[in-house]
Amino acid sequence: MSCSGSQQYLNGSVNNDEAAKSVKILTVVGARPNFMKAAPILSAIRAHNERLSTSLTPNGHRTPPIFLQNVLIHTGQHYDEAMSDRFFADLNIPRPDVHLGVGSGSHAGQTAEIMRRFEEVLLKEKPDLLIVVGDVNSTLACALVASKIAYDAKGSRPLIAHVEAGLRSFDRSMPEEINRIITDHVADLLFVTEESGLHNLRDEGLSNDKIHFVGNTMIDSLLAFKSRADDSAILDTLGLRSVDTRDVQKERYTLLTLHRPSNVDQRETFLNILEGLEELSSLCPIIFPVHPRTKKKIVEFGLERFFNAENGNLANENPHSNACKRGIRLIDPLGYLDFLCLMGHATLVVTDSGGIQEETTCLGVPCITVRENTERPITVKVGTNVLAGTSREGIRRAARQQLESKKVRGTVPEAWDGRSAYRILDAICRAVERKSLI
Ligand code: UD1
Repeated sequence: MSCSGSQQYLNGSVNNDEAAKSVKILTVVGARPNFMKAAPILSAIRAHNERLSTSLTPNGHRTPPIFLQNVLIHTGQHYDEAMSDRFFADLNIPRPDVHLGVGSGSHAGQTAEIMRRFEEVLLKEKPDLLIVVGDVNSTLACALVASKIAYDAKGSRPLIAHVEAGLRSFDRSMPEEINRIITDHVADLLFVTEESGLHNLRDEGLSNDKIHFVGNTMIDSLLAFKSRADDSAILDTLGLRSVDTRDVQKERYTLLTLHRPSNVDQRETFLNILEGLEELSSLCPIIFPVHPRTKKKIVEFGLERFFNAENGNLANENPHSNACKRGIRLIDPLGYLDFLCLMGHATLVVTDSGGIQEETTCLGVPCITVRENTERPITVKVGTNVLAGTSREGIRRAARQQLESKKVRGTVPEAWDGRSAYRILDAICRAVERKSLI
């Protein structure tokens, strides 16, 4: 651990006996679902340092005297304005200190390129601790590099913290499942969001000392930004609010997201899903902010007839569509606040995303997951989520079940309370005090 005196950071407010240690953290983000998971940690680091600077007085201190210096790395796995920059703005994330500019590629190509470029940064920065979040290729690539790096002849390396550890779909055909397993097995600190994660990690033989049940930083973001999201103009833009009362229109709507390769990369599966949604789309409009890969597939497979495109530039674009229109309304990807607003007011959400299963559970909005499995079983057990599979009939059945259900809208899982990032920082401070470089 680099224990440099902290006066340079704390404007000389510390007396020499109580000089704070400085711990250097590298936090990695790369793809859209990383941003809302990392944002609360970055903001908790800022708050920690502010507390430190005000509480460290010549009369003593109350907070642990560890200054956390953060370096933010963006791998560039996602790079479109709508997939990246917009989220930095919405979530108040500072500009990355380093942008690796990796971009898209095959799994091997993308992962290898991130690893190659990240290794240079790691050797230059030599952090005490690396934070990776979620299960995307950037998560795996950076954790793997850090696990094999040697800063010196003794082979010192940073501690590796994995936020959202322990989730398992038990489906190894999912690239994310491979990313989760390997990242967990090279990490030193495993921050778990739900009970199943604790069991999975223990079943895989990982030491209890590494495992910390902290809750869900994605929910920290949701709770922090929910009221700001309610100010979003998206309901008006899409004509989903009645002009007279400014209440959400009685006309209900479904919010749809689909991007998993297993759902959209094969024409027949994608077609089945769209046919499964036809009955639902005849009952209420389906709003579909479309992921770039999904949009490419719609055109490639000639599936445009299922959609009323508004700003998605598909062939049958109809600029006059409005909220009362049935069918699937295809729109460009949304920023964090607009999406959160739309999700919070939806009658139903249909998705193949992981995070959206959790967000809808927290919001009490019924959710249908178009997959055969979920790595987030708590959302089905206590939350609002139903697994539909990908067959036409399965999707129709789940939609009817969710629309007709009168049951209470689930409960919020344990520790999804907006404090997860603080629990993570507490554990990090304790870990770096116990152990410096490995
Ligand atoms: C990645 C994650 C997935 C996550 C998803 C959220 C992996 C293995 N997958 O999938 O877990 O749920 O992000 O979006 O890490 N593209 C653009 N602009 C962009 C980014 C991507 O046009 O800014 C297009 C490119 O054609 C690219 C394709 O989308 O080839 C897929 O992008 P990629 O990052 O490989 O995977 P996602 O499907 O986004």
